[in-house]
Amino acid sequence: MRTWNVAVVGSTGAVGTEFLKLLETREFPIKTLRLLASERSAGKSVDFHGRTYKVETLTANSFEDVDIAFFSAGGSRSKEFAPHAVAAGALVIDNSSAYRMDPSTPLVIPEINPEDIARHSGIIANPNCSTIIMLMAVAPLRKLGAIKRVVVSTYQAASGAGAQAMNELIAQTADALHDRPLVPQVFPYPIAFNLFSHNTRIDESGYNEEERKMILETRKILHDTHFRVSATCVRVPVLRAHSESINVEFSEGGRPTLEQIREVYAETPGVVVVDDRVANHFPMPIEASGTDDVLIGRLRYDDSCENAVDMFVCGDQILKGAALNGLQIAEFWMRSAQ
Ligand SMILES: NC(=O)c1ccc[n+]([C@@H]2O[C@H](COP(=O)([O-])OP(=O)(O)OC[C@H]3O[C@@H](n4cnc5c(N)ncnc54)[C@H](OP(=O)(O)O)[C@@H]3O)[C@@H](O)[C@H]2O)c1
Repeated sequence: MRTWNVAVVGSTGAVGTEFLKLLETREFPIKTLRLLASERSAGKSVDFHGRTYKVETLTANSFEDVDIAFFSAGGSRSKEFAPHAVAAGALVIDNSSAYRMDPSTPLVIPEINPEDIARHSGIIANPNCSTIIMLMAVAPLRKLGAIKRVVVSTYQAASGAGAQAMNELIAQTADALHDRPLVPQVFPYPIAFNLFSHNTRIDESGYNEEERKMILETRKILHDTHFRVSATCVRVPVLRAHSESINVEFSEGGRPTLEQIREVYAETPGVVVVDDRVANHFPMPIEASGTDDVLIGRLRYDDSCENAVDMFVCGDQILKGAALNGLQIAEFWMRSAQ
């Protein structure tokens, strides 16, 4: 089997750390591994497959002989350094938003649009985590009928904003429990025992950046420039795994039955239905954490609209929303490159 020279950019972060775990557990065929981060982490030791690796500072020269570079170090690092990786001959799989809407960069969820991988010119973008989790539930339903619109509300975990944000939630929760003042540093407002509208810029229309990503990236992934999504994105005091309440409206007279929807999900890789009405057991972030699959439940007909269904979905945004999706892209690409 062919083996590959791999670089992980942002290897000390929330997503980078998960990438390393997945490279191990999925037995990724690695020839050499280069761990890159900022100079703050340079020299730090990381254990991988029984060997100790030193983290190196990311520079323009970091990519000599690299075949695949996984970028998870923020958009500005991707913008600056991904072109150097491509020039050195590497395939870049980018977790930031830097190239997602670039027409020459495929935006891929392997279960949905794997055929786009072949169109790359050096960079393949990983979609926004909330978009991935929503589309894992919504895209399979197109087999049952045309979708008129989707209305989604998110409940997004602190870890979606990185390792420091996760630490802020833990530390602030302890502060709150001990009656100490809550001092936000990563987030704009206290995250412990609170929730707030997603901490991204609001545009002139009133949507924030995260909501716009869900709208625009969906259209690109589904190759449907008219696909209608309205999103409300909210940050909640959950450590890990995003949740989403999703309303899917089908075209006039085209609503499938819940049985048909369950059948489609049963044969869709990457999703699991958790929908026990008797036990009141439905998707929860605590059960989605550390899980590859997106959990789907609360499946019901929308009483207010004869063409719509409602559901509640949870997915680990560091896994399927980031590292796992990126690795799956690489696995698809490797199969065609062998
Ligand atoms: N967290 C999620 O759920 C999620 C989901 C989807 C996509 N993403 C995207 O993935 C990327 C990483 O997110 P994260 O949550 O893993 O963030 P994070 O925990 O804050 O980690 C950031 C990583 O980037 C590195 N970095 C920061 N500045 C750098 C620089 N100047 N040069 C080189 N490396 C630098 C950090 O290295 P040091 O340790 O040395 O600072 C760290 O390894 C972001 O673009 C984010 O939007 C995140």
